[in-house]
Amino acid sequence: MGYAEIYRRAQTDPEGFWMEAAEAIDWVQPPSKALFADNAPLYEWFADGMVNTCWNAVDRHVEAGHGDRVAIIHDSPLTGTTHKITYAELQARVASLAGALRAKGVEKGDRVIIYMPMVPEAVEAMLACGRIGAIHSVVFGGFASNELAVRIDDCQPKCIIAASCGIEPGRVVHYKPLLDGALDLAAHKPEFCVIFQREQEVAKLEEGRDVDWHAFQYGVDPAECVPVEGNHPSYILYTSGTTGQPKGVVRHTAGHLVALNWSMRNLYDMQPGEVFWAASDVGWVVGHSYICYAPLVYGCTTIVFEGKPVGTPDAGTFWRVIRDHKVKCLFTAPTAFRAIKRDDPQGALVKDYDLSSLESLFLAGERADPDTIKWAQDKLGVPVIDHWWQTETGWAIAGNPLGIEKLPVKIGSPAVAMPGYDVQILDEGGHPMKPGELGAIAVKLPLPPGTLPTLWNAEARYRKSYLEHFPGYYETGDAGYVDEDGYLYIMARTDDVINVAGHRLSTGAMEEVLAAHPDVAECAVIGVTDSLKGQLPMGFVCLNKGTITSAEDVVADCVKLVRDQIGPVAAFKLAVVVERLPKTRSGKILRATMVKIADGADYKMPATIDDPAILDEIAEAVAELGYGRAPA
Ligand code: COA
Ligand code: AMP
Repeated sequence: MGYAEIYRRAQTDPEGFWMEAAEAIDWVQPPSKALFADNAPLYEWFADGMVNTCWNAVDRHVEAGHGDRVAIIHDSPLTGTTHKITYAELQARVASLAGALRAKGVEKGDRVIIYMPMVPEAVEAMLACGRIGAIHSVVFGGFASNELAVRIDDCQPKCIIAASCGIEPGRVVHYKPLLDGALDLAAHKPEFCVIFQREQEVAKLEEGRDVDWHAFQYGVDPAECVPVEGNHPSYILYTSGTTGQPKGVVRHTAGHLVALNWSMRNLYDMQPGEVFWAASDVGWVVGHSYICYAPLVYGCTTIVFEGKPVGTPDAGTFWRVIRDHKVKCLFTAPTAFRAIKRDDPQGALVKDYDLSSLESLFLAGERADPDTIKWAQDKLGVPVIDHWWQTETGWAIAGNPLGIEKLPVKIGSPAVAMPGYDVQILDEGGHPMKPGELGAIAVKLPLPPGTLPTLWNAEARYRKSYLEHFPGYYETGDAGYVDEDGYLYIMARTDDVINVAGHRLSTGAMEEVLAAHPDVAECAVIGVTDSLKGQLPMGFVCLNKGTITSAEDVVADCVKLVRDQIGPVAAFKLAVVVERLPKTRSGKILRATMVKIADGADYKMPATIDDPAILDEIAEAVAELGYGRAPA
């Protein structure tokens, strides 16, 4: 069957399609049906089945005789080490960790926050939670204490599992002090913390609260897999919305397993036993789905890579990893390839490595620019597949299903809707638009298995953020169009979310930080185009009347505040003091016009602008930062 037929089948017979896909999962009790629609527009999949994620990701492969197969390869150019863990070893390690968590009282439904760098123990911690039905929430290591504290208060974990440190090029990231800082800030106090001590930095443990990763496992009985309902949350992953309060995307267990397993064969064209590498971080959805869950559930070998595409030690690192571990499919963000291309424009280093194992490169996380795609196609000689998805969906909304049929690649498009996604382009009034017309991208409900059923403890926010604007649809927050062949083009966000080096960030959250500065009267943060990271945040601040602090000092404070409160990952380094912000007559800040000015693009004078002269002041301000239109 080709793509068109498979897609049609998922549309016309979703029950049959997804129940068949569910057969590839081991159930303690199979579900009676696929879709549970009693509570529409809130939907659930396989809700009455009983299943365990860890069993499917680990134990079943050992049972099937594949215990000697490598499950995880940890490749860390930052520490100069490589380490392989077989499925049998993984089973023993995860069962022991899960047993220790259980012995300390962690049970089904309890939340566990994981704050760790790219070490296999991060994946093991995720799986150990799944083994006993605990709900994990992984927090990316590049977030600061305040962000961690917000998540602690929202999901109220019984336990936090952290590493002593992370390693970034040229510096050790002191995770433990960041964790301690978060615990001071948070109102909720977890019962205990488990600290994985790395050789690079041993952290001080606080007696009565912190336990050592190894020591607390001593003498405990390994835990068996606890069956959970299909609609039991497997994890919560926080993602940026329009405000400083992140959204806790919930992932239900069964739909997640079924969809991810389906995607490995049909989208990525993988077979069990082959090596899959998602060069991302476990703190992002790509890391959840394609470093941890999908490759393991499908019986592949996954790579946990602790390094950067460049500088660790050079722009040949990705090729070295592909060669050393015989990677068949590489998945990363376009920004990684832009970084490599910038350091090695001719791709000279590619020639030093045998890349014959590589069959495809998948890109996601941000718009894949044509230059980068062409460069990768040219240098690697394999299909370069752009695919589009979100934290909310957990797997691709649109892509080119290599395992079914390689559709023609159209550069600039993440190709076509995946089975189960009825993607539509809508105008403001919610009416479908014609091919070629730009509109809001929405997906007709229900979304397929694996996607978010709700937000953690925030159903009203879920409905408001995603379901209310276009009744009967899920609003993606992306704008774009579809062409005559059904290929999608993702052009921009419709909200204040920006994408910096494939990382999703909220300009609204940064504005909240700047606004708290005592000298700042008002502010705006926008995303400007950047040739490496795709976008960079740029802040404009207006000072209170009578402020005596110098503009330079306020700017330096603002940069430090965002780094301290959101984290280095925000990459907030561009800020400028302005007299006024451009606004409509009703007082709305004209951020879209500011973006155009900062990008040096043409713009129309907004009809509702209060005072057009302010735009000249903005142009001068961005020029100070080295942006905008070059002087004629
Ligand atoms: N823990 C602590 N700090 C972190 C971190 C982590 N896990 N990850 C990033 N940071 C820090 C970086 O050290 C940097 O700090 P600095 O301002 O002191 O230099 C800052 O956060 C910004 O990081 P980043 O935006 O990643 O920039 P970079 O210059 O370190 O690297 C790229 C740029 C393009 C090489 C890198 O972003 C990359 O490889 N991205 C593609 C892959 C990816 O992760 N995609 C995500 C979703 S698929
Ligand atoms: P995240 O939730 O961090 O995965 O970010 C999701 C957002 O990243 C999407 O809503 C898009 O704005 C953007 N995005 C992800 N993949 C793509 C892609 N292939 N093309 C364009 N934008 C993308």
